[in-house]
Amino acid sequence: MRKSLQEGTSFLFYDNTGNTMSCERKEFMEPRKNIMEYDTVALRDEEDAVAIIDQTKLPKEIQVILLKTAQEIWEAIYKLKVRGAPAIGVAAAFGIYVLAKKISAEEYRDFRKEFQKQKEYLDSARPTAVNLSWALRRMEQVVQENKDKSVAEIKDLLKAEAIRIQEEDIQVCRSIGEFGLTLLKPGDGILTHCNAGKLAASRYGTATAPIYLGQERGYGFRVFADETRPLLQGARLTAFELAASGVDVTLICDNMSAAVMKNGWVNAVFVGCDRVAANGDTANKIGTSVVAAVAKQYGVPFYVAAPTATIDLATPTGEEIVIEQRAAEEVTDMWYQTPMAPEGVKVYNPAFDVTSRELISGIVTEYGIAKPPYETSLRKMFEEKKKRGGTL
Ligand code: MRU
Repeated sequence: MRKSLQEGTSFLFYDNTGNTMSCERKEFMEPRKNIMEYDTVALRDEEDAVAIIDQTKLPKEIQVILLKTAQEIWEAIYKLKVRGAPAIGVAAAFGIYVLAKKISAEEYRDFRKEFQKQKEYLDSARPTAVNLSWALRRMEQVVQENKDKSVAEIKDLLKAEAIRIQEEDIQVCRSIGEFGLTLLKPGDGILTHCNAGKLAASRYGTATAPIYLGQERGYGFRVFADETRPLLQGARLTAFELAASGVDVTLICDNMSAAVMKNGWVNAVFVGCDRVAANGDTANKIGTSVVAAVAKQYGVPFYVAAPTATIDLATPTGEEIVIEQRAAEEVTDMWYQTPMAPEGVKVYNPAFDVTSRELISGIVTEYGIAKPPYETSLRKMFEEKKKRGGTL
């Protein structure tokens, strides 16, 4: 039987200093300047810099930082100051442009050699999200295809391409939102994992795009955000941006998804992705595959929001996706006042897992909703992209 959310539930909300407070159904108090008014990533061309919101500081502090050197850009991606597959791609595109601008070589060959070096360095920051190498490859193509132009002209073309990558991301997310919305009805409960929101992309996010469009159109969705151990992207980022947008969001621990689904509170799961293999297997934040298995158990449809930039037809199955491993301290120490695990304990800390395609009800792209068998439906999305002149 469906239980009422109101019955005996208390909620945690952020106050306007970013601290949490426990209260019974209090209104969310907006921070002085709303997070939704900031660009997740922006080019500051006159300052030779990429500006990002430092996401490691959220929600306590909204701090915009400028990245100017290769090491600063690499580190910002590695340390998740900028994170989420599309946002990483945009940051890398602006980043490589900023670095290319500083290359002093005037000869094409020398410029290209230095460009290549910087590109490979940025590409090594994180292995799983394909958007990083995808965006850098697009930038590299600009250099390769304009051999006949002067270095100064190539730099201008690089800037234009990076801006295009960001603008396309906004359009892509909006289209995913429109297609995603067709899978939902007013009043639905939606569960999401990690942050595939505005903070992970340029505006609407991917998994959150149907939620934001629904919000604009008065759908009255109720969203459950998994906190997402160990780096708490769900608690720190998703709950923060959805609440700041006025969406009805409830934060739950990762081990509560079965409970909320069993209560009948969830009509659909929407998650983002870091790399979708050609057969539909999908890598996303660690814990996603658990949610998918639980959703199957309770008959809840499980959707992946995937820009075609995150679909990697060159990777045949999930088996071939490289999963980033991260530091043990993220599990043992981070967020705790004192370390909460015995010193020296063995830790396994993969940043992502692969959800098997059998558990995925549909993959929502900017060209439509791919359904099983994904080998054929995903290819069709790329055929459509080619037909419409999209950059492959
Ligand atoms: O480690 P993160 O925070 O970069 O992981 C992010 C995710 O897993 C997102 O769900 C994914 O990148 C999609 S973002 C639209």
